Amino acid sequence: MRHLAVIMDGNGRWAEKQGRRREFGHREGAENLRTLCVLCRERGIPYLTVYAFSTENWRRPKAEVGALMRLFSHYFRKYAREMEAEGIRLRFIGERGDLPADVVRTMEEAEESSRDRTELQLVIAFNYGGRREIVQAAQRAARDMLREGLDPSSLNEEGFSRYLYIDDLPEPDLLIRTGGEYRLSNFLIWQTAYTELYTEECLWPDFGAFELDRAIADYKTRQRRFGDV
Ligand code: FPP
Repeated sequence: MRHLAVIMDGNGRWAEKQGRRREFGHREGAENLRTLCVLCRERGIPYLTVYAFSTENWRRPKAEVGALMRLFSHYFRKYAREMEAEGIRLRFIGERGDLPADVVRTMEEAEESSRDRTELQLVIAFNYGGRREIVQAAQRAARDMLREGLDPSSLNEEGFSRYLYIDDLPEPDLLIRTGGEYRLSNFLIWQTAYTELYTEECLWPDFGAFELDRAIADYKTRQRRFGDV
């Protein structure tokens, strides 16, 4: 397996079960992402994409959104050294326009300083929406075609996918969603056309080596035919 994608769901419930605030669950969830990076490296998985904040998450109470923004900036500064030691290259997908300036700065610094690392590429979807990504790609493709006087029917799937946020990663082989839900929630909807889906009942902060290996074992039993027989 080359590319694993994860919807890290259930932080809020995990905290509430212990009578704690939801923000506590997000902090624990962020810590667990460090664990997942180590596990991926150990298993030789070179690409990991995770959903950290969706374009719909703005609907949450202001305090929770604020806590997620602060956690984000704090986290990448706090663990910058550790990520360097682990050889982790960081990339971010999503809309940066509506994000606080310090969050955008954190992203740019992390991307810039990690550009040459090769052990693991960690892609964080933050203020990300799959439909938004596709609409923006369509707009940019249309603009280019207008400018170059090209016939729109010359655009094919491969050409279109070059307009997505990231165009140089293989598509996810396996998508794991924790927290027991069976939905994509607008995550990588273009890229997961042939991805194997796996739902894990446990909540994100409880997801560890045992659960990851169980998901990978299940993935290995799947027959990926990509539409062939
Ligand atoms: C889903 O749990 C999780 C999120 C909306 C945020 C995920 C964020 C993190 C794991 C931490 C932030 C990441 C970084 C990189 C600093 P939920 O709140 O929907 O949980 P619930 O379904 O139990 O309510």
